[in-house]
This record gives sequence, C-alpha cells and structure tokens, in this order.
Amino acid sequence: MRFPLALCVAVALQAQSLPRYVGSLACQGCHPRQFATQSATAHAGALFRAKEHPLAAALPLGQTLLRKPGYQLTLSKRETGLESTLRNATQVMELPLDWAFGAGRQAITFVSRVNPDWYVEHYATWYAAPNAWGATPGQDALQPGDIAQAAGLLYKTTNPENGIDGCFACHSTGPLAFGPANEIQPREPGVRCEACHGPGSQHTNRPTPTNIGNPARRNAAQINEFCGQCHRPPAAGGNVTDWNYAWNVRHQPVYLSQAACFRKSDGKLYCLTCHRPHEPSLDSKVVVDYNSRCRACHAASLRPPAATCQTNCIDCHMPRVSPQANLSFTNHWIGIYRAGAKLRP
Ligand code: HEC
Ligand code: HEC
Ligand code: HEC
Ligand code: HEC
Ligand code: HEC
Ligand code: HEC
Ligand code: HEC
Repeated sequence: MRFPLALCVAVALQAQSLPRYVGSLACQGCHPRQFATQSATAHAGALFRAKEHPLAAALPLGQTLLRKPGYQLTLSKRETGLESTLRNATQVMELPLDWAFGAGRQAITFVSRVNPDWYVEHYATWYAAPNAWGATPGQDALQPGDIAQAAGLLYKTTNPENGIDGCFACHSTGPLAFGPANEIQPREPGVRCEACHGPGSQHTNRPTPTNIGNPARRNAAQINEFCGQCHRPPAAGGNVTDWNYAWNVRHQPVYLSQAACFRKSDGKLYCLTCHRPHEPSLDSKVVVDYNSRCRACHAASLRPPAATCQTNCIDCHMPRVSPQANLSFTNHWIGIYRAGAKLRP
C-alpha cells in the first residue's frame, strides 16, 4: 500500500504544528506582569508536591487528630518529606504525603499514591481558619473498618467518574501524563497560563495575538461555561441543581446563571466583571471594588439600590454559605435574601 507523497507531507506538517504545552516559565519573559501576579494566586497554588507547598513549614505538625474508633493521627517532617503516622492500641501505620491540594486559602488536603491502581485521599485536612487539622470533607461520616481505611479514602488512579485523576485534572495545567508504574505526572501543577490560554508552543515560537487562546473572546455565557470546566458549569438542558444543598453553592457558575443581574443584562455580567484572572482576587482590600462594580449597573437608570443599601453590597446580596465548619463559599445567585435565608433569594 502506498500513500501519495503529498498526503504524507500534509500529515507530517499537521503533527508538527499541533500546539504543545510549554509551561508558564516560557511565558514569563514576554509577559512578566501577568506572570508575577498570577504566580501569587490561589490558582497557581492549587497543587504542589506536599513538601514544596509554601505553607508546609508553617503547618501545625505534631498536633494530634483523633478518629473514631480509637485512632490517633499525627503528621511529622522527615528527611524525605512530610509523613502521617496513624496508630491505635495495637497497630501503627506510616504513610508519606505525596501531594498537597489547595493553596491554603481555606484548606489543604493531602493525597498519596498507594500502588499503580489506587491513590488515597488522607483523612487529615488542614483548615486555615483555626490553623488545625480536621476531617477531610465527606470523610467524617465514614466508619473505618480497619487501620488502612482509617488513613483515608481510596480512589482509583483513573476512572472517568470518580478517579483521583479528576482531582489532578482540575488542579493542574495541561493533560496528565502517567509514569511507568502508572504514577500521575501533571504537566504543570496548579492552574497556570495554559489552563486558560491553551497550549502555547506556536505562540511562544512566533508570537501573534491570534495564535494563543484568550477567554476574553468568548461571550458571557461561554465564559461562565469556560470557568465552569473546573468550577462546574450551569446544568445543560434544565435545572437539576438541589438549591437546598449547601455544598452546591461552591459551583459559582451554576448560581450566577440564576441571578437576574446575569439573565437580564444582555451578556454584560460574567466572571471577569468581578474577578481579575491574573490577580489574587479574594482580598478584603477589594470589597469597595465590588461595590463599584454593582454600582456600574445599578445607577439611577437601572433599578437603583434601595434605601437600606448603604454598606457592602455583597454582605446582603451575595451571602457566604458554610456547608461545614471552616469552609465557606459565596452565593453567586445575586438577589434579595430574607433574613437568615442564604441558599436562595
Ligand atoms: C517571545 C515573546 C512571547 C512569549 C514567549 C509569549 N508571548 Fe504572549 N504575546 C506576545 C506578543 C508580542 C503578543 C501580542 C501583543 C499585542 O499585539 O498586543 C502576545 C499576546 C498574548 C496574549 C493576548 C492575545 C490576544 O487575544 O490579544 C495572550 C493571552 C498571551 N500572549 C499569552 C501568552 C502565554 C500564555 C504565553 C506562554 C505560553 C505567552 N503568551 C508567551 C509575546 C509573547
Ligand atoms: C483548570 C481548572 C480551573 C479553571 C479553568 C478555572 N479555575 Fe478558578 N480555581 C480552580 C481551583 C482548583 C481553585 C482553587 C484554588 C485553591 O484555593 O487551591 C480555583 C479558585 C478560584 C478563585 C478563588 C481564589 C482566587 O484566586 O481568588 C476564583 C475567584 C476563581 N478560581 C475564578 C476563576 C475564573 C473567573 C475562571 C475563568 C476565567 C477560572 N477560575 C477558571 C480551578 C480552575
Ligand atoms: C471539577 C474540578 C475539580 C475536581 C474534580 C476537584 N477539584 Fe478541588 N477544587 C476545584 C475548585 C474549582 C476549587 C475552588 C473551590 C472554590 O473555592 O469554589 C477547589 C478547591 C479545592 C480545595 C481547597 C479547599 C476548598 O474546598 O475550597 C481542596 C483542598 C481541593 N479542592 C481538593 C480536591 C481533591 C482532593 C479532589 C479529588 C478528590 C478535588 N479537589 C477534585 C475543582 C476541582
Ligand atoms: C484563570 C484563567 C487564566 C489564567 C490561569 C491565566 N490567564 Fe491570562 N487571561 C485570562 C483572561 C480571562 C484574559 C482576558 C482578560 C480581559 O480581557 O479582561 C487574559 C488575558 C491575558 C493577556 C492579554 C493581556 C491582558 O493582561 O489582558 C495575556 C498577555 C495573558 N493573559 C497572559 C497570561 C499568562 C502569562 C499567564 C500565566 C502566568 C496567564 N495569562 C494565566 C485568563 C487567564
Ligand atoms: C452588568 C450589570 C449588572 C451588574 C454588574 C450587577 N447587576 Fe444587579 N441587576 C442587573 C439587572 C439587569 C437586574 C434586573 C433588573 C430588573 O429586573 O429590572 C439586576 C437585578 C438586581 C437585584 C434584584 C434581584 C431580583 O431578583 O429582583 C439585586 C438585589 C441586584 N441586582 C444587586 C446587585 C449587586 C449587589 C451587584 C454587585 C455584586 C449587582 N447587582 C451587579 C444588572 C447588574
Ligand atoms: C458580581 C460580582 C461577581 C461575579 C460576576 C462573579 N463573582 Fe465570584 N465572587 C464574588 C465575590 C464578592 C466573592 C467573595 C469575595 C470575598 O470573599 O472576598 C467571590 C468569590 C468567588 C470564589 C471563591 C469561593 C467562594 O465561593 O467564595 C470563586 C471560586 C469565584 N468567586 C468564582 C467565580 C466564577 C467562576 C464566576 C463566573 C461564573 C464568578 N465568580 C463571578 C463576586 C463575583
Ligand atoms: C444591609 C443589607 C443590604 C446592603 C448592604 C445592600 N442591600 Fe440592596 N437591598 C437590600 C434589601 C433588604 C433590599 C430589598 C428591600 C427593599 O426593596 O427595600 C435590597 C434591594 C436592592 C435592589 C433592588 C431594588 C428594587 O428596586 O427592588 C438593588 C438593585 C440593590 N439592593 C442593590 C444594592 C447595591 C448595589 C448595594 C451596594 C451599594 C446594596 N444593594 C447593598 C439589602 C441590602
């Protein structure tokens, strides 16, 4: 069987010209400003090797966490890195901490490889508010049958529904690679440039404004979907969200899509109205900034605020919801909430 030469050349050219992921360091030289501020965001810190987490040295190691029935968990620092020690009356189990998920704005959860097929999400999560260890979300309700189960929750290495590869995919940049023993190797830990701009090899070789992706070219609903890849998109075809389930509030695109501000503003309200993509956005210094963003639309001509609306707009119209102790999320369904009701306006 012979292929025409022209076809072979075309295929070869196409393979050559498919853009590859090159990593954020390749963008630094030409875009130093975006690089510097983006590196300080929670996005950039969403995933680290555990011992490389910037907060690793500040964690309250040595503090003991109890788990029923009769387990004691402590974390400690060894030459090789961080390690957890779990003991009960008769047994001891030691596990290295491989990966740290979460920049630490609210919490850090640890994940380790067990064997080629399984990873474990550790029982102990560090919570920023109390600076203390607590149960990882969802694990408190589980009853461990043995010491291995007490260490944490097992996840398949890969599984389209609930594999640990899903955690890595949302907390890193580019497609995942797998080592010889099926160990997950993120291209680049954390949510960095190419998570939002796409693979950058063509652009870094010969930069033009059009050979790199830019979410700003999408419309409001598409940006909602785009950020929703990781923050969860509004449900397609109908409303399947349980508005009484407090954990769902963390799916900001779903909630924003319900707000009258979003639905009735002809595509002028989207994630980037309030969040700057390259800057740490959750900072008390910017509260005034949110007020000015609300007022940009709610001036005299469009539903001016009521007489009660004197202080921070978000305190009343975007209430914070706490689905469990030490974690809270902002309700992006902007609206008028009755006193005490925070889940839906
Ligand atoms: C060799 C220098 C260089 C490198 C390396 C580089 N860029 Fe650029 N980038 C440019 C230039 C030049 C422009 C066009 C600026 C203009 O015309 O306004 C640009 C524009 C952009 C734009 C705006 C596109 C638009 O819609 O207008 C984005 C986004 C971007 N770069 C992202 C990246 C990312 C991500 C990386 C790393 C993967 C990167 N750049 C690496 C030089 C570079
Ligand atoms: C590849 C997945 C991914 C994409 C795409 C993504 N995010 Fe995130 N985002 C995350 C993760 C993971 C965190 C949690 C970081 C942490 O605290 O560890 C986060 C945190 C945030 C935060 C809170 C922390 C901060 O920096 O203030 C905001 C705001 C945010 N994202 C907005 C956006 C917006 C807006 C977009 C779309 C332009 C977007 N994200 C796209 C994964 C993503
Ligand atoms: C669909 C994408 C996605 C998957 C899958 C995912 N995360 Fe996240 N994760 C996020 C986003 C987005 C945030 C930011 C949450 C926010 O602040 O709204 C986040 C935040 C976190 C945080 C910071 C604390 C918090 O709750 O805000 C930790 C820790 C974390 N994730 C661990 C994990 C672990 C462990 C897994 C797998 C068991 C996982 N994540 C799976 C997207 C994801
Ligand atoms: C969370 C998604 C996200 C990440 C991560 C991200 N960007 Fe962007 N970037 C955007 C969005 C959205 C815009 C469009 C901003 C606008 O027009 O309002 C943008 C715009 C740009 C531009 C055009 C000029 C400007 O500042 O608006 C450049 C250059 C750029 N990004 C480079 C980078 C580099 C370099 C990194 C990594 C250090 C990076 N971006 C990481 C979402 C992201
Ligand atoms: C892009 C423009 C825009 C921005 C920005 C905006 N809104 Fe709105 N908002 C609207 C529109 C349009 C409506 C619907 C007006 C109507 O029904 O006549 C609305 C409705 C409302 C309502 C009434 C809700 C209801 O269900 O009837 C409240 C409260 C509100 N906005 C508060 C806010 C607050 C607080 C902010 C800032 C966090 C904000 N808005 C930002 C455009 C905007
Ligand atoms: C009208 C303004 C506004 C818009 C639009 C908006 N946000 Fe937010 N967002 C906020 C405010 C206010 C906070 C809380 C800030 C704080 O606590 O300092 C927040 C917080 C967050 C957080 C941190 C976790 C949490 O829930 O508190 C994430 C993640 C986030 N937003 C993602 C998004 C995404 C994704 C979009 C687009 C679907 C979006 N936001 C659109 C105002 C907005
Ligand atoms: C102390 C809580 C509180 C704060 C802070 C607050 N609001 Fe309100 N807002 C309310 C209540 C309650 C209503 C509905 C009661 C009414 O109509 O008098 C309302 C109504 C509104 C409406 C709808 C008005 C209408 O015609 O029905 C808009 C728009 C609005 N607020 C915007 C804002 C903006 C913008 C800010 C920040 C500058 C803000 N609010 C701050 C409590 C608050």
